[in-house]
Amino acid sequence: MIYADYAATTPVDPRVVNAMMPYFTEVFGNASSTHRAGLMAQQAVLEARASIAADIGARLTELVFTSGATEAINLAVLGCARHNSGGRRHIVTAATEHPAMLDSVRYLEQHGHPVTFVGVDANGVVDMDELQQAITDQTLLVSIMAVNNETGVKQDLAALSALAHHHGALFMTDATQAWGKMPINVDALGIDLLTFSGHKLYGPKGTGALYVRTRKERSCSLEPLQFGGGQERGLRSGTLNVPGIVGLAEAGRLAHSSMDEEHARIAGLRDAFEAAMIATCGVVANGCAVGRSATTSNMTFGEGIDLDILLMHLPHVAVSKGSACSSTKAKPSHVLTAMGRTPAEAGRSLRFSFGRFSTDDDVQTLIADLTTAHENARLGVLPA
Ligand SMILES: Cc1ncc(COP(=O)(O)O)c(C=O)c1O
Repeated sequence: MIYADYAATTPVDPRVVNAMMPYFTEVFGNASSTHRAGLMAQQAVLEARASIAADIGARLTELVFTSGATEAINLAVLGCARHNSGGRRHIVTAATEHPAMLDSVRYLEQHGHPVTFVGVDANGVVDMDELQQAITDQTLLVSIMAVNNETGVKQDLAALSALAHHHGALFMTDATQAWGKMPINVDALGIDLLTFSGHKLYGPKGTGALYVRTRKERSCSLEPLQFGGGQERGLRSGTLNVPGIVGLAEAGRLAHSSMDEEHARIAGLRDAFEAAMIATCGVVANGCAVGRSATTSNMTFGEGIDLDILLMHLPHVAVSKGSACSSTKAKPSHVLTAMGRTPAEAGRSLRFSFGRFSTDDDVQTLIADLTTAHENARLGVLPA
């Protein structure tokens, strides 16, 4: 198999597995218990928290461990809105966000919160004029993702947060596709709420975290969404997933220790792949004119290319039609249509994404196989 779907999920790095192993069988205590076994688990969680906090410039008390980015986004958005129910209520987000964000704010909209979805330009960059007009002194939260999961397009977080803060609103970013792949410092970028997950960064599935700014100058207060033992300062009750948290921190540590080299190598693979596909198949690379994450290439194939036939010729290639979360849905990508692609063009688009274990050989084989599949799809030839 050629795996070209790292934006959907990544294999767990064997070093992460090794770091986690003792916490299944040896240090298995409940991190809330006060006996020695519990204290050992607590110590592991503390070290993991310190490591992740250092990666993003957070304080220890500002991190909440969750089961992934979806949970973290729901807690951030619903928790923030519910806590502030009497004051500011307006929420601003972008049309190209992940469904975890879009559906959370749509839920709030149904419950009386005014919501504005701002548009993006042809490259997928948030329209700053539209954003400026959308934010008012009633805006509670502006949430714009750091890196788009379908295109890899990056947003200018410092400029976005400055605009939000100018109007007294909080600034949140979904950094699920950015954490460990680009430097993120919550102070330098003015981030008040930040979410990410482990499985996009060679960590275990079912792990993630929410950063919640709690400082004198600006603080976010959230209502919890789940109740019970009061773990994570009462914001997220439930027994801590100690092996998962250790794995999350180790994944973050490994990624941050080799970020520049890994970025350069993967960008090289992605760019070579993209250039070859433009040359041989005449694809249009979506969002390629602006800053993108190194991993991702989203391309639209030409008119007359039936993607289903093309993919039938590539049973050994793992690639996404849109994002993994929406690739089973028949609807064309909301991200590409927001960028001005027609529904038909969006329907002829694929997301390829590369990562730590992608090799030059993989990419060369992919280029050759895809070129052949493209020719077959152009001629309408079905696989034998
Ligand atoms: C940008 C973005 N946000 C949120 C999520 C949801 O993350 P999780 O799978 O950890 O719930 C994803 C995963 O596809 C994503 O790419």
